[in-house]
Amino acid sequence: MRLTIRDIQKLKEQGEAIVVITAYDAMSARLSEIAQIPMILVGDSLGMVVQGHDSTIPVTLDQMIYHAEIVVRVTQKPLIIGDLPFMSYSISPEQALSNAARMMQESGVSCVKVEGGEFMAPTIQRIVQAGIPVMAHIGLTPQSVNQFGGFRVQGREIESARKLLQDAIAIEQAGAFAVVLELVPAPLAQVITERLNIPTIGIGAGAGCSGQVQVFHDLLTLAADFLPKHTKRYANLSDSIADALQHYVQEVKAGVFPSETNSFSMNQTLVDQLRREFLQD
Ligand code: KIV
Repeated sequence: MRLTIRDIQKLKEQGEAIVVITAYDAMSARLSEIAQIPMILVGDSLGMVVQGHDSTIPVTLDQMIYHAEIVVRVTQKPLIIGDLPFMSYSISPEQALSNAARMMQESGVSCVKVEGGEFMAPTIQRIVQAGIPVMAHIGLTPQSVNQFGGFRVQGREIESARKLLQDAIAIEQAGAFAVVLELVPAPLAQVITERLNIPTIGIGAGAGCSGQVQVFHDLLTLAADFLPKHTKRYANLSDSIADALQHYVQEVKAGVFPSETNSFSMNQTLVDQLRREFLQD
């Protein structure tokens, strides 16, 4: 039985930390479920992590639906959230509803995520009223990276901190079931968490949030070149993978791989016959 937004709210009420992971494919989703992670976000960070772009902006709705469908199909229990990509929900509440419905119907996710604060409240309300649960996302919202002028911490000054609190309150009133706080000073995230009834899910927002979200590839160091400050390396797979691939190259060049164990045999009489027919002039 798949978890629902009510189960997630219960975790918050019981004071249990809510663990969320961003995963985009069958293998990472299955491993996340085995680790008993209750919520998987199919995030548009796949634009950077999987597609190799320098922002999430090029990601399309079709691509998000493609990945979300995979994650839904290979998991049973976690609540799956489908991220709505850049410009797929900002033009009007009607456009947002129609694309949220596509995401839900075509991928099977149970809810969607949108970036934006108070100005997004009417859109969130429209989607929620139509029966689609919404997770909101404030602080550093990567789809607005050009507006922010880079990936920087938000809400360090009193006015911007107040604004984030107002955003969080407006989102909750609009009916969001949870809110991601990205790159927000830990004490501010704590105040937002105490002020809201819905869970806050932090990424670079300190330990005072109701839960945490991290990207699968970051936790395992699958990309060796860049590790955001808000991430911890729980394994260093890029080094192990590089070693393994070098070993593979060496063994193929040395004729060590494939060995008999990795090969398939055939009746020797047939082989002799083929050799006579095709190799002898
Ligand atoms: O796209 C994503 O993975 C996200 C999380 C990092 C919150 O938005």
